[in-house]
Amino acid sequence: MSIVAPSFLASNFLRLEDECKMVNESEADWFHLDVMDGSFVPNISFGLPVIQHIRKTTQKVCDVHLMIVEPWKFIEEFKKAGADVLSIHIEVCPNLHRNIQQIKELGMKAGVAVNPHTPVNFLEDILHEIDVVNLMSVNPGFGGQKFIPYTLEKIKQLRKMIDERGLNVLIEIDGGVTLDNAKTIVDAGTDVLVAGSTVFSSNDPKGTIAALKKL
Ligand code: DX5
Ligand code: ZN
Repeated sequence: MSIVAPSFLASNFLRLEDECKMVNESEADWFHLDVMDGSFVPNISFGLPVIQHIRKTTQKVCDVHLMIVEPWKFIEEFKKAGADVLSIHIEVCPNLHRNIQQIKELGMKAGVAVNPHTPVNFLEDILHEIDVVNLMSVNPGFGGQKFIPYTLEKIKQLRKMIDERGLNVLIEIDGGVTLDNAKTIVDAGTDVLVAGSTVFSSNDPKGTIAALKKL
């Protein structure tokens, strides 16, 4: 069974408390929280104060995905806001090893996110230090985009790298996950399915989460 992580980017911000309640009552495992700065990605979402409030509503894992430049400046702040998993992008971290240690020293799980153009080979020397690899299956910045098919090859390649070395690293797929493609994505070796629009635009969000969970 996969870990299912609804992405609140697609939630109704006017009814955020209800959306949290819905996810809490569902079979979802993680809250996926996307932070965007308008610099690393061409969009701005929400930040620390919103995450602080969401944190208070849930016992589930808060999986914070930082799509921001210089993420190391905010590691401690996101810990204080309630992040359990903190993902930073490899593309903006020249001292990735140090930043992963900083995340783990604060008691969070360390996630490394990679854009569609970044080869999974770039993770080779750091893989044993990582808890979660967020493989972006769309270009980050927006919900509701189409899954990039080549990601399936990247999942298989990363799965092989992890299994060959007997590591305990979760593969998270983020972007364009639908009820139609989720099984193929899981079969390729995915552990965590992020789903934004598929969940929150559904007429039956809890049922959709349950369906993703069953795969
Ligand atoms: C995209 C974000 C995703 C996004 C996924 O930059 O990182 O988490 O919310 O949305 P969907 O599932 O709609 O593609
Ligand atoms: Zn995300």
